[in-house]
Amino acid sequence: MKTIDLNLETEQQLFFHNYARFPLEIEYGKGSFLYTTDGSRYLDMIAGIGVNAIGYGDPRLLKAITQQAGRYIHISNLFMQGPQFELASRLLEISGLSKVFFCNSGTEAIEAAIKLARRFAGQNGNIEKREVLSLSNCFHGRTYGAMSLTAKPKYVDGFEPLVPETGMIDFNNIDDLENKVSDRTAAVFVEFVQGEGGIHRVSEPFIARLKELAAQLGFLIVADEIQSGCGRTGTFFSYSQFDVQPDLVCAAKPLGGGLPLGAIIGTEKIAGVFAPGSHGTTFGGNPVACAAGLAMIDAIYADNLMEKAVETGKLIREGFEKLATKYRQILEIRQYGLMVGVTVDKEAKYYVEQALKKHVLINATSQNVIRLLPPLSIDRADAQLCIDTLDEIFSEEKP
Ligand SMILES: Cc1ncc(COP(=O)(O)O)c(C=O)c1O
Repeated sequence: MKTIDLNLETEQQLFFHNYARFPLEIEYGKGSFLYTTDGSRYLDMIAGIGVNAIGYGDPRLLKAITQQAGRYIHISNLFMQGPQFELASRLLEISGLSKVFFCNSGTEAIEAAIKLARRFAGQNGNIEKREVLSLSNCFHGRTYGAMSLTAKPKYVDGFEPLVPETGMIDFNNIDDLENKVSDRTAAVFVEFVQGEGGIHRVSEPFIARLKELAAQLGFLIVADEIQSGCGRTGTFFSYSQFDVQPDLVCAAKPLGGGLPLGAIIGTEKIAGVFAPGSHGTTFGGNPVACAAGLAMIDAIYADNLMEKAVETGKLIREGFEKLATKYRQILEIRQYGLMVGVTVDKEAKYYVEQALKKHVLINATSQNVIRLLPPLSIDRADAQLCIDTLDEIFSEEKP
């Protein structure tokens, strides 16, 4: 029996004020839709912030979860765990990389990568090589290391001091890259397509120069594929659309099929950095999450969801391009597979609120960017429904 009303008032009473939640009580999800307890249906163009790659209620995912939960839910990393071995092997097969470490979230994957990069530099006799850099406008997470790489006032205000020897290179600015990196640099972290930053793709010339400098100065290139990975941009990892092999790849969000799971995946060069006890986690690589992740990856390949993401993404882009000819509110459209960012002439929050009234869930990021991260499995008709709804909203605005 329900004892508490799920509304914004009780939310304020119960929780620290971290989140701006939708005032919806969700009963269940099916495909690309969420259903509320009052019987309404909402088209979900956010998919748990890029987590639910194959939509809600996929029977293959449910079967994998229930089967593994029936065997054991947790036994710890003191044991060999089948689903972990299976998922690790699948990730290595997909990426062509050498080693995996599992954790529970994106930010934990970033922490592991920072630690690995510094320890690698130290093991190679260079204890001065401590500096870890990222690109402006990036987002890498909320824990201290990841937050220090995400040094925008909004994320760090009141939490200083940050982790020392962290810094930022201007996004796509080759001069700044050349000025910032040195033989003290242990790693540069790159989102090949920035997510929270508003869907911006790093440039090919920037990556080409980064690659040259990494070889010359001996720092690691770390790809943050937490939002852009698992097929969302049309390839399993977005970096493979560039001429570069990162030393380390961070994955999370959809990796556990909706359950908490993160990973770092690295090259042979860095295979020996960690030793028993040097880094670890109680829950990392939870077997139920790994079984779910495997089922999700199998579904992505079986249903050709990467190809589908490219096609549906194109349909969404063309839809917005048409709208942009009618409405001055649309300033820019950026789309890579099913990572879509539309810059508008006001706070994007306005459109989130209007779309909610019309039962479509969209997201706002970077103040004036409408961000869409629908399930990769979304039907064309449902993607079109989102465009048509926004068409209506733009048309209803006073000139
Ligand atoms: C690119 C990127 N890196 C890291 C993170 C942090 O992941 P988590 O929220 O699982 O800690 C996010 C989350 O939005 C992300 O988009």
